[in-house]
Amino acid sequence: MVRRVAVVGAGSSGLACIKICVDEGLEPVCFESSNDIGGLWNFKESPEPERSSIYRSLVVNTSKEMMCFSDFPMPADYPNYMHNSQLLQYFRLYADHFELLRYVHFQTTVRSVTQSSDFSLSGQWDIVTFNRNEEEERHVFDAVLVCSGHYTHPSLPLSDFPGYETFSGRCFHSWDYRDAEACRGKRVVVVGIGNSGGDIAVEISRSAEKTFLSTRQGAWVIGRMSSNGLPLDMTAITRLNNMLTLILPNNLVNWAAERTLNHKYDHRLYGLKPTHRLLDKKPLINDDLPGRILQGALVMKHNLKGFKDSGVVFEDGTVEENIDNVVFCTGYNGNFPFLPPALSEGPHGELTLYKTLFPPSLLQPTLAVMGLFQTKGPIMPIVEMQARWAVKVFTGSSRLPAKEKMLEVIESERKRNMKSYPCPRKAALQVDYIPYLDFMAEEVRVRPNFLRLLLRDPVLWVSVFFGPCTPYQYRLSGPGQWAGARQAILTQWERVAQPFRTRAVPKSTPSVRFSPWLLLFGGTVTMAVLSKNEIIPVLQGAAEILDRCKMFLRDCWFTG
Ligand SMILES: Cc1cc2nc3c(=O)[nH]c(=O)nc-3n(C[C@H](O)[C@H](O)[C@H](O)COP(=O)(O)OP(=O)(O)OC[C@H]3O[C@@H](n4cnc5c(N)ncnc54)[C@H](O)[C@@H]3O)c2cc1C
Ligand SMILES: *[C@@H]1O[C@H](CO)[C@@H](O)[C@H](O)[C@H]1NC(C)=O
Repeated sequence: MVRRVAVVGAGSSGLACIKICVDEGLEPVCFESSNDIGGLWNFKESPEPERSSIYRSLVVNTSKEMMCFSDFPMPADYPNYMHNSQLLQYFRLYADHFELLRYVHFQTTVRSVTQSSDFSLSGQWDIVTFNRNEEEERHVFDAVLVCSGHYTHPSLPLSDFPGYETFSGRCFHSWDYRDAEACRGKRVVVVGIGNSGGDIAVEISRSAEKTFLSTRQGAWVIGRMSSNGLPLDMTAITRLNNMLTLILPNNLVNWAAERTLNHKYDHRLYGLKPTHRLLDKKPLINDDLPGRILQGALVMKHNLKGFKDSGVVFEDGTVEENIDNVVFCTGYNGNFPFLPPALSEGPHGELTLYKTLFPPSLLQPTLAVMGLFQTKGPIMPIVEMQARWAVKVFTGSSRLPAKEKMLEVIESERKRNMKSYPCPRKAALQVDYIPYLDFMAEEVRVRPNFLRLLLRDPVLWVSVFFGPCTPYQYRLSGPGQWAGARQAILTQWERVAQPFRTRAVPKSTPSVRFSPWLLLFGGTVTMAVLSKNEIIPVLQGAAEILDRCKMFLRDCWFTG
């Protein structure tokens, strides 16, 4: 019988885990090494070893209706994309509302998690912690949820770059970056075009003399804004789109979407164009980067090759002299020093996890690692679903396949992802947003039943199928059902609109918005008749019409 569950860390993942354990009648005990909740989102003036760290200006890249917990919508007046401090505020509201703090032991660090001597029978874990007075404590738990984060150990590959020892400028990792103060008037190179690299390069370019952004692969750059200025993730992450990407050829979707992107700024002209196609990898989310390039404040460069005195050498042979700072936005290595080394059985000594969650080699499935994945969507709703599944597995009401089967699945998913992410370690971390959520929801028996929904509640069905896949969808029925879920879905666009209502503007009549749609429809039909052989533009027209239909439906919600 599983009763007591250890939760390692009180970041957003740890909080969700505590709540889910309580929901399921379990007894969570959470250990948090710092003196506060929020993890990554609890901004610190200087980084602390073994902990994740963010820069002062960080604004989320996923919108509030998509990234909230499934039974706790964000306050209506929150901006759709908020500053990191406001997200922390939301986590405080969540913790207060569900009274989660009483389960958290602050300033208590988990040093080791080991299988107890009778593990094969009991599935229990021995845990050693250190509290603020450096006193060691030993505990026994029935199960463990690891929520310690994986942006903790910066990857700083300095020795890969010849001439580093004699370089006169200063090199540091984005983990150490707080703001652009130290870069004022300087010449700065930013290495890496992940989300942090993009943000940091843009920010530095506002105060530096010149900023260079060095990238090996380039990137597709998308803004937070979709058509009509609505949050991009809300228009992109829908069940309809998920279905379309399954049935339409990838080439076609890539072609159409890349074309739209290049329409705003030609990725080749701007030196951004990557070698991969748009759907292959997570695009860079950044609203300002192209503008900084257009203004010449930010200069795109090739991959960094090495250093020479005060200069930096790039792979195309060019050299930039008199560089003061080099900021490495080169990512992190997930590291779980307190876990048994035997669990790190991947080809590169990394954790191997079934569905990025369960170590397949354990004789009893009583440990799960939360949040160790990458996806083109918000992290929190997935972690919450991971927790819902994990506790079902702990209590035996959901079963894992046999070890061999799990290893097979891990390998085949890794192979599939290798096409987009040639690094095996990274390939193993990628999950598809809706399919992964649905898979787990199926295990927990909370996946919406679409046929029943269509017959019983067609209005809700339209929102669930055509609208954004917001987390509330997984609280409509089954264990853990939330009575407010239907209402939360029907009012989600209302909460999107709320923060904009700071200056009343008379409503426009919907018919005016409708006419371009009719024009497009007419245009597409004419085009189809004129060029029977040009199947691609016709299909793209069809996709656009669908898009228009969706926008129209959305407008209907919007205008009430
Ligand atoms: C710059 C940046 C921007 C991001 N932006 C977004 C975004 O916009 N949207 C999004 O969905 N995701 C975003 N993410 C992903 C982010 O990682 C997750 O959203 C989320 O914060 C992960 O939370 P966590 O609780 O798993 O980890 P963390 O927030 O890192 O929390 C881990 C906690 O565990 C504690 N801990 C660690 N080790 C121990 C130990 N041994 N004993 C006790 N306690 C321990 C730490 O003190 C910490 O409080 C971003 C990540 C980064 C790096
Ligand atoms: C948001 O930024 C973080 C940090 O770089 C990144 O890990 C995450 O994947 C981004 N989210 C999306 C949806 O791109």
